[in-house]
Amino acid sequence: MSLVGIFGRPFVDLSSLLDLSGLDDVHEEICLALAKTPVDYTGGSHRSMGIMPKGHDAEALRDYGEVIRAMTDAQFETFRGLADTDVPADARATGEFGEERDYPLSRRQMLWLKVRFGVYFPWKAYVELIPNRAWKDKSDPTGKDFTARAKTFFPKTVALIHSLPFTQVGRANIMGLEANDHGTLHRDGEPKDQAAPDHFITLCPAGDKRLYVWDQETEEKTFVMGRAVWFNDFDFHGVDAEPHFRYSLRVDGIFDDDLLARIRGACMSGDPRMTDGA
Ligand SMILES: [Fe+2]
Repeated sequence: MSLVGIFGRPFVDLSSLLDLSGLDDVHEEICLALAKTPVDYTGGSHRSMGIMPKGHDAEALRDYGEVIRAMTDAQFETFRGLADTDVPADARATGEFGEERDYPLSRRQMLWLKVRFGVYFPWKAYVELIPNRAWKDKSDPTGKDFTARAKTFFPKTVALIHSLPFTQVGRANIMGLEANDHGTLHRDGEPKDQAAPDHFITLCPAGDKRLYVWDQETEEKTFVMGRAVWFNDFDFHGVDAEPHFRYSLRVDGIFDDDLLARIRGACMSGDPRMTDGA
């Protein structure tokens, strides 16, 4: 199917609607913090999750959902022993592994999946600033807060997130890709299940992440340009490989009515700034 998009656009560049004056300082802070703090991996199971478009399955390379299912019992015992939390012996039959699923992977499990089985984790610099337990709750702030690490190493980033025009924020994370890695093409939900696009802002302070949305019907990429963008994550999206590290900051929540009205108005009036990446 073709792109659903946002108010008739394949994506929207929010740069003209937000105060991004602090973004250069935030960029310096994030780069320094990524050098000082441990990071996790994310992605790595898009094929087994069934969220990739037909004909692109191979781009996921080695998928940890498939690897875990194919482990011998002895290998699975080793894998269980590397968890940070208690993983039942029958977890393979009763639940799913991965971030925001039944059994989140520990750092040790991710590394073992990579070095022993060749699993490809597209995002190898992943930092949860506001952890979220279940994907469906990503806009709900109940019981959540910025981590101690976020408050210590990312204070300007935390302040910027507080300043964004959300009525509530339920999830915030940094997603970095190593040089030459690609973000596998996938979508975050089924368009038929969507009443309206989920609210989030992706900030790319360096403006160097080649995120794209993918039209399955025309088989065309549209690059999502801008330092602060919103796209429909129920459309297929991926990140092109580049010969250098790059990252973005994603903040999920509920937009305030004024921002949503301004986005709708700008899109409906044909404002070219909404897709020009300025
Ligand atoms: Fe996604």
